[in-house]
Amino acid sequence: MFVAVTASELRRKVRLSERPVGLAPTMGALHEGHAALVRQARADNATAAVSIFVNPTQFGPGGDFGAYPRDLEADLARLEEAGADLVFAPAVGEMYPDGFDTYVDVGGVAAPLEGKARPGHFRGVATVVCKLLTMTRPDRAYFGQKDAQQCLVVKRLNADLNLGAQIVVVPTVREPDGLALSSRNVYLSPEQRGAAPVLYRSLQAGRRLVCQGTSDAEAVRRRIRGVIEREPLARIDYVSVADACTLQELDRVDRPALASLAAYFGETRLIDNVIIGGGP
Ligand code: PAJ
Repeated sequence: MFVAVTASELRRKVRLSERPVGLAPTMGALHEGHAALVRQARADNATAAVSIFVNPTQFGPGGDFGAYPRDLEADLARLEEAGADLVFAPAVGEMYPDGFDTYVDVGGVAAPLEGKARPGHFRGVATVVCKLLTMTRPDRAYFGQKDAQQCLVVKRLNADLNLGAQIVVVPTVREPDGLALSSRNVYLSPEQRGAAPVLYRSLQAGRRLVCQGTSDAEAVRRRIRGVIEREPLARIDYVSVADACTLQELDRVDRPALASLAAYFGETRLIDNVIIGGGP
């Protein structure tokens, strides 16, 4: 496994690598969710590349950029085990040198939900993903369904700017109790950790309602909210049932829908989602 820290090292190494090349962009603090991306990249490609970069431009002013968990040694060990060939772990100054002044703004799909709750977040994500895809020029790039809106933003960006990667979406990896793996789960107190699986349970309750024949999207949102509201440690930020492609809120669940939510447990904000409707 080769670790590149500069863009030119990365480019040189990719040029010498066997194609196809798969890239899984991450911010480190790697867990089994990230490992699933890497294993998929490993299985689909001759070369599996991973980037580790805690991207300052996607954190808000009051965000946790400074406090975001960082452990490069542990990350590299996990990547070696997951079968990565090439790791790109640049410093902030390599990605954003003095004078950096170009950003990528994705339109409609970046606006609602996380875009609304975290102004500037997707501008930072789109900018860094654009840079990573441009530097690496992978045949495939891997993203988790856990961040469903991010997947749509990246697909839009990749198509609109002709970045030429196939965007592969990997299913959400969960703890046995349903909690989606997240680097932020380490911030939960034992009580909050015990309460957090309510998020996935609420989404499943929403999905069940649709499976039972309900197509009233507001009834589905109400059901999801109702389940979470019974958990005193959870505070809802938003609950959405939206078109799975455009993220427009639905009146009726008459096509594939993304049921998604964000909720606080203390200071820790967790997100989760499931696809409902439009088939099993
Ligand atoms: P990060 O939060 O480190 O996540 C890296 C990738 O792992 C993302 O595609 C995310 O959706 C995926 N992932 C995280 N938890 C997962 C889980 N439980 N199951 C499946 N996949 C999971 O997302 C980012 O970093 C950044 O925004 C990034 C794309 C790297 C740009 O900075």
